[in-house]
Amino acid sequence: MRPASRLVSSLLFFLSYSNILHHLQAQPSTQGFTCPANQSSFPCQTYAFYRASAPNFLDLASIGDLFSVSRLMISKPSNISSPTSPLIPNQPLFVPLSCSCNPINSTSISSANITYTIEAGNTFYIVSTEYFQNLTTYQSVELFNPTLIPELLDIGVEVIFPIFCKCPNQTQLQNKVNYLVSYVFQPSDNLSSVASTFGVETQSIVDVNGNNIQPYDTIFVPVNQLPQLAQPTVVVPSGAPPPEKTERKGVIIGLAVGLGIAGLLLVLVSGVWFYREGVLKKRRDVEKVEEKRRMQLNGGSKGLKDIEVSLMADVSDCLDKYRVFKIDELKEATNGFSENCLIEGSVFKGSINGETYAIKKMKWNACEELKILQKVSFFFFLSLITVYTPAFTVCFGFQ
Ligand SMILES: *[C@@H]1O[C@H](CO)[C@@H](O)[C@H](O)[C@H]1NC(C)=O
Ligand SMILES: *[C@@H]1O[C@H](CO)[C@@H](O)[C@H](O)[C@H]1NC(C)=O
Ligand SMILES: *[C@@H]1O[C@H](CO)[C@@H](O)[C@H](O)[C@H]1NC(C)=O
Ligand SMILES: *[C@@H]1O[C@H](CO)[C@@H](O)[C@H](O)[C@H]1NC(C)=O
Ligand SMILES: *[C@@H]1O[C@H](CO)[C@@H](O)[C@H](O)[C@H]1NC(C)=O
Ligand SMILES: *[C@@H]1O[C@H](CO)[C@@H](O)[C@H](O)[C@H]1NC(C)=O
Ligand SMILES: *[C@@H]1O[C@H](CO)[C@@H](O)[C@H](O)[C@H]1NC(C)=O
Repeated sequence: MRPASRLVSSLLFFLSYSNILHHLQAQPSTQGFTCPANQSSFPCQTYAFYRASAPNFLDLASIGDLFSVSRLMISKPSNISSPTSPLIPNQPLFVPLSCSCNPINSTSISSANITYTIEAGNTFYIVSTEYFQNLTTYQSVELFNPTLIPELLDIGVEVIFPIFCKCPNQTQLQNKVNYLVSYVFQPSDNLSSVASTFGVETQSIVDVNGNNIQPYDTIFVPVNQLPQLAQPTVVVPSGAPPPEKTERKGVIIGLAVGLGIAGLLLVLVSGVWFYREGVLKKRRDVEKVEEKRRMQLNGGSKGLKDIEVSLMADVSDCLDKYRVFKIDELKEATNGFSENCLIEGSVFKGSINGETYAIKKMKWNACEELKILQKVSFFFFLSLITVYTPAFTVCFGFQ
């Protein structure tokens, strides 16, 4: 056997071997934790350990909204004196849950049902792993929402996210275990560090969860009462009150993306900045004129305005710099998306108000594609736009 083919076959062997290993070690609990035979302690009030995280969950209001509880219901058990102050990333919190036993198919799953309304870009996986920080799994979400097709989620549809939880059984209650706190085991954790966070014995965690605990598994920490969390002192910025909630989300995402771009730009093409400054000024004048024209137009065409608004809302989630054009403007700019204006694929060259743009035709979810363009192929994105436009204006069309 030649060395190369030997390498390939051992690689293949390794792959299939690790595949088998993976199946052997697969946790049986991906769909959730089954209820005990004696369900006399269900339903119960319990808690989940949750970490504040950027960009969307840095205040109790948005975390409260996510879990359908009030700010006070989180701040009190979490040893936070001011429920309105902002949180810092990774700040520890206890979020209350109503844990119940839910019959699904032939089994019963112990969970707290949280209803979540799907937003642009959400998938079962993203919401489970990022928003709910692995306190549930997408497999369990699929089980709890048999009528929904995971690949075809409409914006605005309500989905049940079953947050994993348990209620103490009779033995545990007798041993003064009042709560089994849901906790997602982190890669940096070990049993003793978790035990000391909660002020319990390592063995008591093993008794409930076994000792084959993997990172991102949900475990249940048996406690008599919640430990007092050591909260960092947060400096509240003086001045303007926090902006309105729905706005803030967009602004934070916008800012995060904006800062990312600005950073890259500075490093990569700082020279372009100066050029851009000059052009921007010119463009602002053009924009002013266009704004005026648009306002006149809006009086007459209500349908178009609605489309504009929704396009704007979707797109503003992804980018901080955007301009919205009417489909007619884009058609005119590209001679009705004619072959002559085609650059490549679905990208056209078009001229609006004397400026040349790259115009990309997209099927609906433009947001996803823009995010990918920004994250993955920023270089490509940058050159695409700089080649055909003097300013960093992005324009969108849709089919
Ligand atoms: C369940 O536990 C309760 C409390 O200990 C007990 O009274 C009841 O008999 C148990 N039920 C069954 C079916 O074992
Ligand atoms: C959830 O688990 C996945 C791996 O299963 C991991 O990539 C992700 O970072 C975890 N989420 C959080 C918030 O820790
Ligand atoms: C639930 O049961 C139905 C039929 O009883 C079956 O088709 C479906 O696959 C089951 N769902 C899961 C997730 O096990
Ligand atoms: C939780 O969701 C499941 C699946 O939709 C449902 O059968 C169950 O009744 C719900 N439980 C509660 C307490 O709402
Ligand atoms: C557990 O982690 C802590 C730090 O988080 C470390 O000091 C300790 O040595 C670790 N213990 C074990 C048994 O690995
Ligand atoms: C209660 O749970 C503990 C830990 O999972 C288990 O060892 C014990 O047997 C359970 N007791 C009853 C009565 O189910
Ligand atoms: C709880 O918060 C207070 C201040 O809000 C702080 O003094 C105290 O140390 C905290 N408790 C623990 C255990 O850190």
